[in-house]
Parts: sequence; C-alpha cells; structure tokens
Amino acid sequence: MWPDRRILDLLGLELPILQAPMAGPVDSEMVIAVSEAGGLGGLPCALMTPEKARAELGIIRQRTARPININFFCHKQPEDDPAREAAWKRRLEPFYFELGIDPSAPAPRSARAPFDAEFCDIVEEFRPEVVSFHFGLPDAALLDRVKATGAKVLSSATTADEAVWLEERGCDAIIAQGAEAGGHRGIFLTDDVANQPGTFALVPQVVDAVKVPVIAAGGIADARGVVAAFVLGASAVQIGTAYLFCPEAKVAAPHKEVLRTAKDDHTALTNVFTGRPARGIVNRIMREVGPMSDLAPAFPLAGGALAPLRAKSEPLGSGDFMSLWSGQAARLGREMPAAELTRALADEAQLLLARFAR
Ligand SMILES: Cc1cc2nc3c(=O)[nH]c(=O)nc-3n(C[C@H](O)[C@H](O)[C@H](O)COP(=O)(O)O)c2cc1C
Repeated sequence: MWPDRRILDLLGLELPILQAPMAGPVDSEMVIAVSEAGGLGGLPCALMTPEKARAELGIIRQRTARPININFFCHKQPEDDPAREAAWKRRLEPFYFELGIDPSAPAPRSARAPFDAEFCDIVEEFRPEVVSFHFGLPDAALLDRVKATGAKVLSSATTADEAVWLEERGCDAIIAQGAEAGGHRGIFLTDDVANQPGTFALVPQVVDAVKVPVIAAGGIADARGVVAAFVLGASAVQIGTAYLFCPEAKVAAPHKEVLRTAKDDHTALTNVFTGRPARGIVNRIMREVGPMSDLAPAFPLAGGALAPLRAKSEPLGSGDFMSLWSGQAARLGREMPAAELTRALADEAQLLLARFAR
C-alpha cells in the first residue's frame, strides 16, 4: 500500500502520519485520537511539569494501547545574564507602559524545561514506544537510559550534517525539518538559522546522507505534501500546523483566528518569544521588536519578560504579544477532528499514489 514501509515497521504504525508534538496546543486528547486512527500521536513535554506529563500519560495509556511518542526539548539551560535580561526588559518597557503594567515587578521565568533525569524516570515508568527530541539529543547517560526502555529514538535535523550527527549517536530515524515548518527550528549544530534549507531540498539530501529512515516535516499539510515527501525518499511525514485546526488542539482564540486567514507569506522566523528562532504568523511584537532581535536573551529566557504582556492582552482578544506559531502551509489546513484528519491524509495520499502508478 505504501511505497516505503520502514517507519511503519520500525514504529508499529498503520499509517505513516506522525502528529507533531506541539508544546502548548497538544495534550492527551489529540495524542489518543491520532494514535487510535493508526498514526503516531506525539505528546510534547517541553512546557509540562513532570507531574503534568505523568497525568497526561496516565490518561493516554488508559485510552489507547497503540504506539505513542513523547517529546522533549534538550537544550542546555543557559546561565542567568542579568544585564542582558535588563536590556531586554528595557526594550519591552514601552509596551509595559502602554498596557499599564509596572515594569519593575519581577517577571516569571520561562517554563520550558530540558529533558533531565526526572523526565527520564517518566520514560522508564510509561515506556512509550517512541521518544523524540528537539535541539539535538540529551547527554549519553540519559540517552542510554531511554534506549534501554526499548523506545525508538527520533530527533529533528535541519541539515544533512545534523542528520549524520544524530544517526552516529543512535537515532533510529531522523525527522528532516525544513524551513517551512511552524514552531522552533530543531537546529543545534550552529545557530545560523538563515541557512536552513527548505523541505524539498533537505529531505533527499538527508535521505542520501543517512541509512536510517527519514520523516519529512515542514509545510506538509495535505495529501500532495505527503506524496511529495515519499517521492523525495521519506518514509513518513510529521505534520504540525494542519493539526492546529482540529478541535482537540488547545489553541488560544487570537491564534486560532489568525490561523484561519493565514496565507503563505504571513509567517516569519522570530526569536523574540523565547530566544530561539521559531516560525510564527507575524504580529505586532515581531514587527516592532524583531522578527529577530540581538537583544533577546538566550533560550528560553526571552519569554519571561513577554509573559506579563501576553497575560494582560490575551484576555482582551489580542494576539499582539503572544507566539502565533504556524508553518507556511496553514492555508491548506482543514477544520476536522484529528482522527478524521489523520485518516483523510492517508486515504487521499493513497488515491494520489494510485493515480501516479497508472
Ligand atoms: C505550535 C507548534 C508547536 C511546536 N512545538 C514543538 C515541540 O514542542 N516539539 C517539537 O519537537 N517540535 C515542535 N514543533 C515543530 C514540529 O515538530 C514540526 O517540525 C513542524 O510543525 C512541521 O511543520 P508544519 O507546522 O509546517 O507541519 C512545533 C510546531 C508548531 C506549529
């Protein structure tokens, strides 16, 4: 049925559709729906406390026996840099005054936590079939513990060199994330994001560079993208933005609204929300402070000073100060339940493949 079964066999899936773990909008509800439909549901843990991750996994394991993916960021937590953080706060001060917020009040710290021994305990406890990482891999001792559970390990590569690096360190498959992708770049060997290739250029070069199977990600939102990924040599796709249109996605109202009208040229890469480049729909803070700013503190610290601005403006219906993550193909999104979307992507891709085979 599928031109390449490597990921299906490796991960025990029926359909070569991986729902991208998306920190914020995705919780157990989406994961269960996608995995039950035969794809791979992915639970993002980057914004969760260990207690929350445990609770979500408890629900998932009760409601589906199908394979699941648990996803973690593995950045190095940066040293505090009070001077840089003060300069960043000063840059944002005019917005604080405009919204009537006292800029001298202490800002919260960003909640994005890297994979650590405590999260590794959770992997050992729940034994997900797949564990995926963003921003490289954790250190060897932690990675060995993950692999000892029997989990297949995936991580994102934004270049062929990153793919080779990941394969050499034991990744079972590579997610080739092209520039079109929504959310954070998985980039980790350099921080020069200007050079990130697009999905069409990246996928075949990653396929040529590694022996493990490749999962294409970035700008894939309908069957045409799925089939193109297979033609380029991928064995599956990982789809993020298209799943933001599902009722299971917990997307803030202002974010949902701009997604509905997003066009191909509405997004840009920005570091103003977290300190690391990520793709989102251009809004006021990106326009006026970025989209890339040298002042933004290291990931994830930039987010702290923005949090009070979001907290004040979002309840008023404003998306001016919040990240509106989206890939370049949001326009192709369809509002339908996640299980239906998963099956529709697969069924429509099959029809297209059959047409090409004739
Ligand atoms: C809202 C949003 C949040 C994301 N959060 C994560 C995350 O927590 N972990 C991760 O590995 N990738 C994350 N990504 C990136 C996706 O894994 C994937 O690379 C991307 O969505 C693919 O491009 P597409 O959005 O065009 O489908 C996120 C993407 C979006 C849109």
